Amino acid sequence: MQEIKFFSGENIPLELHKVRIVQKLHLVPIERRLEALYEGGFNTFRLSTKDVFLDMLTDSGTNAMSDNQLAAMMQGDDAYAGSQSYYRLEKAVQEVLGKKYLLPVHQGRAAENIIALAYVKKGSLVPMNYHFTTAMAHITDKGGQIVELLYDEAYVINSNHPFKGNMNIEKLEEVIKRHGAANIPFIRMEASTNLIGGQPFSVQNLRDVRSLADKYGIRIVLDCSLLGENAYLVLLREEEFKGSDMKTVLHTMTSLADLCYFSARKISSSRGGGMCTDRPEIIKELEALVPLYEGFTTYGGISIREIEAMAVGLYETLDETMICQSPNFIKYLVDSLDAKGIPMIKPAGVLGAHVDAMQVCSHIPQTEYPAGALAAALFLISGIRGMERGSISNQRDEEGNETYADMELLRLAVPRRVFTLSQIKYVEDRLNWLYQNRALIGGLKFVYEPPVLRFFMGGLAPTSDWPQKLMAKFKADFGESL
Ligand code: F0G
Repeated sequence: MQEIKFFSGENIPLELHKVRIVQKLHLVPIERRLEALYEGGFNTFRLSTKDVFLDMLTDSGTNAMSDNQLAAMMQGDDAYAGSQSYYRLEKAVQEVLGKKYLLPVHQGRAAENIIALAYVKKGSLVPMNYHFTTAMAHITDKGGQIVELLYDEAYVINSNHPFKGNMNIEKLEEVIKRHGAANIPFIRMEASTNLIGGQPFSVQNLRDVRSLADKYGIRIVLDCSLLGENAYLVLLREEEFKGSDMKTVLHTMTSLADLCYFSARKISSSRGGGMCTDRPEIIKELEALVPLYEGFTTYGGISIREIEAMAVGLYETLDETMICQSPNFIKYLVDSLDAKGIPMIKPAGVLGAHVDAMQVCSHIPQTEYPAGALAAALFLISGIRGMERGSISNQRDEEGNETYADMELLRLAVPRRVFTLSQIKYVEDRLNWLYQNRALIGGLKFVYEPPVLRFFMGGLAPTSDWPQKLMAKFKADFGESL
């Protein structure tokens, strides 16, 4: 583990890369940001980037690519079948993820669709540490159900537990006994559990899940989209792996799963996705579905250039100076906001900094979506686009009732190597101002609610004229500043 200390004693996450291609940003006036919110139905997914200053919506497809990735793209071997680019990717998967067989797909949720098509049927139950929106949607779409089995500490906002993403082993065994192993097509483990604040599981926990899976003859499917970051936190936090290296941790984790899948938009800072396994019978079951839904098995619906970028990006995941950058920036942001008294998910996880909207907006009931309201308010006063990860991102139950989220979070993604530290300081400054003025934030209500994955395209409206009042206070405090 490399550490660079400052003489001043300050804890600064020093960048170990240089910027060689840049993209201009615009910070439009607050009046335009207010118009943009109304045009986009108070849903940050529906904003146009011309109105966005810092895009902290996601790291998906927005991580900075390296010079070597871009160079590799030029060597793409465009062929419908048997492309050399595919074989280079297959080798990268074998070396980095330690799995023999690979099927590329166009992105992570395509893998979720194919895995659910192959294994989930009506009456199936899929236990998981926690759901991800698209994983759950594909399982319920095929008539299955999910059950989330975290320990209680996962829901403690201000915690120092190193592995809040751990699967609750006792509850898992209970669920298997109650539901019957025959009705459980697989156990899903998600690395760096996205929706509870990018929190990792430990290798030991995965070993314990493996023991139960073996005892009852159930497969383990590992969502590796954020596996690099989970492995990095294992290096930092799990005693057994102190002084080890990324490759060892990654291989140890993937060797405990029967089937791995990933969003390459995350793990390899490219586009695309994939499924990999050592088990020939699994690859045969999935292989049949790929040409139907994705494309031929050596390109899986991804451009060949992106396949080259994926291969190089996977190797770069092994580089600690690359993989540490986003978690270190997130830790810097979380710690500085926490020091100002702003309720943040702690310990700092990966993917982004997560603000606890339930506390910041304790005056807004869950029926009025506090996390969505906080996301809209932050965009209004700063041009920073975060993502609601709360009840708006949940889906209704079978009877059509709202299911309120366990946590109402505003996620501020920190894609790999995209932002500078002064931009992170701007986030800190504006969020601090908003926190001081939080009483001015009001609720939201749906005016258009799509039946599936409603958070993507749903339209909302403020329950009062709170956005105008918040804008007036901003102008009183900041004058002509953007
Ligand atoms: N699994 C996890 C853990 C994810 O975070 C994502 C995507 C997916 C699967 C689906 O992959 O987008 O390539 O289809 N997460 C993005 C996010 C969208 O913003 O957190 P995909």
